[in-house]
Amino acid sequence: MEVIIQSSTEQVVELAAQLTAARLRAKPDLVLGLATGRTMERVYDRLVAMHRNDGLDFSRATSFNLDEYIGVPAEDEHSYRWYMSNHLFQRVNIDRARTHVPDGMAADLSAAATHYEALIQKAGGIDLQLLGIGEAGHIGFNEPLSALMSRTRDKTLTPTTRAQNAAMFGGDPEQVPKRALTMGVGTILDARELLLLATGAAKAAILAQAVEGPITAMVSASAIQLHPRCKVVVDEAAAARLQGREYYQWVFANEPEWADFRQ
Ligand code: F6R
Repeated sequence: MEVIIQSSTEQVVELAAQLTAARLRAKPDLVLGLATGRTMERVYDRLVAMHRNDGLDFSRATSFNLDEYIGVPAEDEHSYRWYMSNHLFQRVNIDRARTHVPDGMAADLSAAATHYEALIQKAGGIDLQLLGIGEAGHIGFNEPLSALMSRTRDKTLTPTTRAQNAAMFGGDPEQVPKRALTMGVGTILDARELLLLATGAAKAAILAQAVEGPITAMVSASAIQLHPRCKVVVDEAAAARLQGREYYQWVFANEPEWADFRQ
């Protein structure tokens, strides 16, 4: 794992967008794993700007989103399909038929989950998976006690997560759906590369547990420690509780592979 500490949220966003764009340019038929949430909104804005200004081409890319609320139709502005359409899909030249979000409206959620896994396999697996981290320690919606080998399935959201996402539901946690269909921790670990982003002081404690604490199903994000190709990009506020801050900064400043990404 590499931890990259940037001095501002803008720089976290820029580095994440630059890295995603570099992978897409190197492999135009990239299979991208996508996340929603506030952290990602600005990354998508930046990718849209790169598409418009620099011709970043999504036409051959395929995407798989991490998760979707159960019981929220795609056309509802609270759905993650709606979020993705508005923040990215409608604004770049991605082929809509190659964008995938779990079907939270499926009558048979278990069949929908199995089908989602099969679609990822058929696409050849995920090349680069973007991740945020929830205050409950989740990646995707893998809430505490999610098995580290879990696959796509439905999960009950914690009160912490429903409170975290309440702002999108008029500020009322009770309005946040109780369940979601999410890629499993095992599904996420199968991606060939992981890029986890965290910004803001509210993430500092859980980020430190995920990166430097024990690997535990209580903090599903800690499973990223098992991944051979994982980058964690954070701002100073989110990095505040990391013990190894100075070492991580030194590595980023000195590793030749990061020369193009230093700002
Ligand atoms: C969203 C997702 C979540 C979020 C996480 C952080 O698809 O899978 O794990 O990435 O909850 O959300 P924000 O960025 O809103 O803090």
